[in-house]
Amino acid sequence: MRRISSVALLIVLLGLPIPTTAPAGEQTGIPPETVANYLHAVIEADRTFYTIHVVERMQKGGGATAAENWRATKNTLPLPAQFLMESSALSAMTGTPVRYRLISLWPINPLNVPRSAAEKAGLESLRTHPERVVTGTVTQGNETYFQAIYADRAVSQSCVGCHNTHPQSAKKDFKLNEAMGGLVIEIPMGR
Ligand code: HEC
Repeated sequence: MRRISSVALLIVLLGLPIPTTAPAGEQTGIPPETVANYLHAVIEADRTFYTIHVVERMQKGGGATAAENWRATKNTLPLPAQFLMESSALSAMTGTPVRYRLISLWPINPLNVPRSAAEKAGLESLRTHPERVVTGTVTQGNETYFQAIYADRAVSQSCVGCHNTHPQSAKKDFKLNEAMGGLVIEIPMGR
C-alpha cells in the first residue's frame, strides 16, 4: 500500500481545498460549450413542448390562439417566441448572467435581426448545416461572452403556417423541419 504523504494527509484532515494543477488564470470547470449545450437542450425542449402541446393543440381544438398582443387580449396565448423572450427576461431577473434570444434572416420583429456579421454568417451556415452549432465570442463592455448559435427548426406545422402567412414576414415559403432562424445563447467567460 502506498504511503499517504504528510501534506496530503494534512489537507484531508484540515479540509483544505486540494490544489489544482491548472496554471493561474486558466479557466477550470465545465467548458462553456458544454454548458451552452445543456442550456440549449432545456430551452429547446420547453419551446417544442409549448408549441406542440399548448399552442397547436389549442388552435386545432378551436380554443385560444397565440397572438402578439396576448397581454391585452383576453383568451389568447403568448406566441412561442414571446414565451422564450419572457422566460429569458425572468431568468435574467434572478441575477444569472446567461442570456438567450432568437434571431432570423427574415425576422417578423425587426429587433430579431442578427446583431453582427458573425451572427449573420452563423445563420447562413445553419441553413445548410443545421446540426453544426456555430460558436464564437462576443465582447460587451468589460465582459466577454462565449456565444453559441443553434438552428431554430420548424418543429410543427404551426411554426410554418404562422410565419408564412404573417404580414410582417419577408419569407413565405418556410417548410417543416427547416431552420427558420437561430437560438443564441451567451455565457460570460471567466466566471
Ligand atoms: C401564431 C404565430 C406564430 C407561431 C405559431 C410561431 N411563430 Fe415564430 N414568431 C411569430 C411572431 C409574431 C414573431 C415575432 C415576435 C416578436 O419578437 O415580437 C416570431 C418570432 C420568431 C423568431 C425570431 C425572428 C422573428 O421572426 O422575429 C423565430 C426564429 C421564430 N419565430 C421561429 C418560430 C418557430 C421555430 C416556431 C415553431 C416552434 C414558431 N416561430 C412559431 C409568430 C409565430
